[in-house]
Amino acid sequence: MSKLCVIGTGYVGLVTGTCFADLGNDVTCLDVNETRIENLINGIMPIYEPGLEEIVTQNTESGRLTFTTNFEEALKGADFAFIAVGTPSGDDGEADLQYVRSAAESIADLVNDPIIVVNKSTVPVGTGDWVTEIINKRRAGKPLDFTVVSNPEFLREGSAINDFMFPDRVVLGSINSDAAKSVAELYAPLRCPVMITDIRTAEMIKYASNAFLATKISFINEIANMCEEMGANVSEVSRGMGYDHRIGTQFLDAGIGWGGSCFPKDVKALAHMAVLHGTHPQLLQAVIEINRNQRRRVVLKLRKALGGLDDKVIGILGISFKPNTDDIRDSPTLEVIHLLQNEGAIIQAYDPQAMENAKKELKRVKYCENPYQVAEGADALILATSWNEFKQIDLKKIYDLMNQKIIVDGRNIWKPEVMRDMGFTYYDVGRGTNGDTEK
Ligand code: NAD
Ligand code: UGA
Repeated sequence: MSKLCVIGTGYVGLVTGTCFADLGNDVTCLDVNETRIENLINGIMPIYEPGLEEIVTQNTESGRLTFTTNFEEALKGADFAFIAVGTPSGDDGEADLQYVRSAAESIADLVNDPIIVVNKSTVPVGTGDWVTEIINKRRAGKPLDFTVVSNPEFLREGSAINDFMFPDRVVLGSINSDAAKSVAELYAPLRCPVMITDIRTAEMIKYASNAFLATKISFINEIANMCEEMGANVSEVSRGMGYDHRIGTQFLDAGIGWGGSCFPKDVKALAHMAVLHGTHPQLLQAVIEINRNQRRRVVLKLRKALGGLDDKVIGILGISFKPNTDDIRDSPTLEVIHLLQNEGAIIQAYDPQAMENAKKELKRVKYCENPYQVAEGADALILATSWNEFKQIDLKKIYDLMNQKIIVDGRNIWKPEVMRDMGFTYYDVGRGTNGDTEK
């Protein structure tokens, strides 16, 4: 059993800490956010993540998982300090490392025994060396026995526990192979491939992976837009491409674009790094631009369908950036709502989990209790997030409640022929519907 301190108790820190406790370690999760820690001590989760509450409860009850805001207490006797704090976008798209710096400084100030510092936050290439430097500088005269290991995280929100427990791979980067092997031991029960490399390569693997996935989505969205003009069906195109193992079926779902707390900031941060180092990230820039346009296309479709948006009532189904999370950070829905409001549209919206977060962020929106209330009196509906709840919706009831029967299916969840048969003017993304109402 190892003793772990996890600094930062957000999506990554909380899931990492809880899963390592579940694997038999003694884990203390630390955060500067007092309310968050107080809630966690009382069994209240700070985020909606399927399966999280159960596994947190089991492990706190077993005594292997504790929460605190006290750095000294959390770091005392720890074999490993995991840094899992946020790395949001700075003004020019660069990763803002202030929280990583602060975590490194706390380690430097409070740790006296040998420790392995594991960096789980997504950080620019070279940050591992920078963290080493920060700690060494602060400990000048009283050196600390420590090594930094880069251990990027690849979990997705909405399936975080499963992704952590069944990873495709674990990547570890360090100049000290013994330290990397010690971290590898923590993951041994997961029986997954473990790749040990140098720190900078590990850091780049994380950015390259996110950027590649975002590229795949922007690619299929560009194809979807072509399909719309050329009368092809992008879902079939994806399926046909995906059978080729070199391409694969995943991340080829066309829609209103990618969002969330990571793809947007990480693609921007990688492009920023590239420019800083004198290279020209032209593919990444195109990937970002396609994504920006994809969100705007929804508004374009509606403007055309309704002959203008002023005073039109638009219902929004889904606010979170993807299903199974309440996270709305950089959700495509937010931008779509802002664009519609700028043109005078009246918005009514519903999300199964993200309403509380949305209320803090989006003003002038009528928040509804269910999808049917959203449809009531609406001139058009936009399906923005593919929650299962929406897939099972009573479409006849929706039809009867709407003022004009226009639907933009931003995630291609319904069948065009069914929608047309029901009498909807139905738009989707790249399946050749184009608002066609003919059967
Ligand atoms: P988050 O915003 O949900 O949580 C970060 C937490 O760190 C917050 O609770 C904050 O209060 C705390 N914090 C900030 N400074 C602190 C400090 N000095 N000491 C202690 N706590 C501090 O962030 P997240 O979504 O968990 O992301 C964390 C990192 O992991 C980011 O770099 C992100 O890019 C990366 N990542 C995120 C995901 C994801 O799905 N969210 C997946 C893979 C990697
Ligand atoms: C993503 C990566 O998938 C994780 O591996 C990574 O660890 C994480 O970012 C991170 O670094 O934070 P996440 O943002 O939780 O995970 O969600 P994804 O499932 O990747 O979806 C991202 C966005 O892409 C969503 O808006 C989703 O709707 C969109 N998407 C996804 C599509 O539009 N089409 C697809 O085929 C897949």
